[in-house]
Amino acid sequence: MKTPVTVLGCMLFAVLVYGQGNEKLSETTNEKKMEWFSDARLGIFIHWGIYAVDGVDESWSFYNDKISHKDYMKQLDGFTANRYDPEYWAELIKKSGAGYAVLTSRHHDGVALWDTGKGGLSVVHDTPAKRELIAPFVSALRKEELKVGMYYSLSNWSHDDYNEFTKEKKRYDIAREPERWERYKEYMFGQIEEIASRFNPDLWWFDGDWEHSAEEWDAAGIRNLLLRYNPETILNSRLQGYGDYSTPEQGVPVFNPPARYWELCLTMNGNWGYQPSDTDYKTPDEIVRIFADMIGMGGNLLLNIGPKASGEIPEEQVAILEEMGRWTGKHAEAVYGTGKGIDLHYFYGPTTLSADRKTLFLFTSGTPANNLVLKGIKNNIREISVVGSGTRLEYHTTGAIDWADYPGITYISLPEEEADPSLTVLKVVLDGEIDLFNKYGPKEE
Ligand code: GLC
Repeated sequence: MKTPVTVLGCMLFAVLVYGQGNEKLSETTNEKKMEWFSDARLGIFIHWGIYAVDGVDESWSFYNDKISHKDYMKQLDGFTANRYDPEYWAELIKKSGAGYAVLTSRHHDGVALWDTGKGGLSVVHDTPAKRELIAPFVSALRKEELKVGMYYSLSNWSHDDYNEFTKEKKRYDIAREPERWERYKEYMFGQIEEIASRFNPDLWWFDGDWEHSAEEWDAAGIRNLLLRYNPETILNSRLQGYGDYSTPEQGVPVFNPPARYWELCLTMNGNWGYQPSDTDYKTPDEIVRIFADMIGMGGNLLLNIGPKASGEIPEEQVAILEEMGRWTGKHAEAVYGTGKGIDLHYFYGPTTLSADRKTLFLFTSGTPANNLVLKGIKNNIREISVVGSGTRLEYHTTGAIDWADYPGITYISLPEEEADPSLTVLKVVLDGEIDLFNKYGPKEE
């Protein structure tokens, strides 16, 4: 029998593991379909909804009783989308160097951005925008050859047949009113199928799964339905064990997340939706560094923007996307189609490896005169150059010990004029697939 202490222990463990992005994933993920996702490295998340009208927390403001549901819904009247320019959005996303975008088709507040025929609220019928917002964006993305991702919240706190309303008020208990829950599921499956048939997303970004079990949501049924529509579509992990990749949120991982495929979703300031009072933006340089850190760990970054109710993208966000574009454009060969780098013990900074594992890319900042140090690489180095300019760099290796197969230490000089204002990337061409010294020192006793 489990004592209360072990039960508590298990719960704590579960919370910790979930928090690290180690959610249970599907065992039937087809590696082939994940290729574009792994190669893309950068995606842009878009939280757009009526919460931008007053600049309140998306859905959570009424759920957490910061404002009433009635006041929250008054924002419907201010959602005009009158300066929405989906082609410009897609161009800007393309320019940032991202390979995909994920748009909130419907958040936990229940307001759909498309013309849903399945009931519930929509911007088409319930706001002055009065038009379909998803279809033109999907076409614009496809024109730019970007992959299309749809965020969909399984929960809908505004729907009469959904059991949760706010953190204090529940509508009903699903064990007592199973037919009401079935009605909700029918609506939810209806909307999911509508999105699948109309927009055929390359990727689904579910959210809100924590409120019910896989059985209650029929998560297996959702997976089957979507793979029937498009066997290549990719599902995120917020589907109670039926997703393809893990989604750590906000906390930049300190250690490599354990999942094979993962993506950190991150806000530019502290909020997902547009909140003019939140001016606490990360700098473009900080975001470049986080990005390099994530790709060096073998993951993607899903960087969020929160457009205004008019559809304009705030200028701070545009500036960050443009800087990402400058940096990813200059360093493309170190970013796209590369994989997880080497352990930090070999080089004190993020690294990536080319697909053939014969080229190592080092990400470094400033001009560490002669203290760029590479340790424990057993290969011969053919050449070291600066990505972007192609300038060859001087380097020398010292301390190699033949009898111990110990490769020594390589020092690289980086002249000041070669340093990027953000991270500089060095390309180290090896004589074969990377071969690392893996003992603690020359003599392992
Ligand atoms: C959280 C929130 C939601 C946000 C999402 C993005 O789960 O519920 O508001 O959209 O994270 O990752």
